Amino acid sequence: MDFVGANILSVCQFERADIDRVFGVADAMAPYAQRRKVTRVLEGAILSNMFLEPSTRTRLSFGVAFNLLGGTVRETVGITASAMAKGESLYDTARVLSGYSDVICMRHPQEGSVAEFAAASRVPVVNGGDGANEHPTQALLDLYTIRKELLANGRTLDDFRIAVIGDLKYGRTVHSLCKLLCLFDKVQLTFVSPPELAMPEAVVEKLRAAGHKVVITDQLEASISHVDIVYSTRIQEERFASPEEANQYRGRFRLNREIFTRHCEPNTVIMHPLPRDSRAEANELDTDLNEHPGLAIFRQTDNGLLVRMALFAMLLGVEELVDDYACPVRWHSRRSPV
Ligand code: NCD
Repeated sequence: MDFVGANILSVCQFERADIDRVFGVADAMAPYAQRRKVTRVLEGAILSNMFLEPSTRTRLSFGVAFNLLGGTVRETVGITASAMAKGESLYDTARVLSGYSDVICMRHPQEGSVAEFAAASRVPVVNGGDGANEHPTQALLDLYTIRKELLANGRTLDDFRIAVIGDLKYGRTVHSLCKLLCLFDKVQLTFVSPPELAMPEAVVEKLRAAGHKVVITDQLEASISHVDIVYSTRIQEERFASPEEANQYRGRFRLNREIFTRHCEPNTVIMHPLPRDSRAEANELDTDLNEHPGLAIFRQTDNGLLVRMALFAMLLGVEELVDDYACPVRWHSRRSPV
């Protein structure tokens, strides 16, 4: 695909060569993300972040990625802080905001809303999550992480085993990730969820059509014993009719040190898109795994910067120019590796 000026709305728009390109550019962003160098390549460019649902890392990492390339970020957070609270349409909002910006990142509670917004925008729009539908940049950073972690264990994206656990019905990160995995070969997927929160049939069919083996179960222990990756997710309480309904599922599948040690192969990698729900009744990924070397959740968040920097550089057509606008850092950064 041609990245310059493109919208990033769904992982279905990517071919495998596109992924390789994004990952190549993401690798080259490491010196900047790790503050070993500074670049001003996007000096003067403006990102508008429009986040109409709660977010910490997606919003921050979009903003920081843009800042690290030398650009400026403007933010609107929450529907009540925007004129949408006065009844303004997605169309009008997009027309206005795109007059002020070079690129827009948007998160919205309704499926399809970011695509509707993008259709009216005059600048590229990146989907930061549209309801339970998709979260394409999270899928890219997850895949980038999986590739790196597999490589460290001598495996590749074309032959690995993953267990995906939790709220697979409403979890947009796993919808996007699983669709993206259709571009690769020989992936074995085990979906672990309560039957009511199963992965949508369309995603399962797409994976099977791509030749992948898919197992659907509600048994955690047996599912995590022979996998390279366990990918845990939070119950998406905001998508349920009531908190009581979501409560039935909280804490159903918990991964902690004891369960991991008893059932998983020692170098199984633990992932989660975050936030993990750390309340006692949920706690799907226990903090007693925090020091486990296989816990990749903060490597995921760090990789998010690289992937989002790569996307911005590519959408604005400057990926070849990043180093031309580089200079050394002037401050002392005391950053330890994750
Ligand atoms: C996820 C999201 O918002 O879809 N978080 C994220 O962007 N990293 C997952 C979640 O909220 O559970």
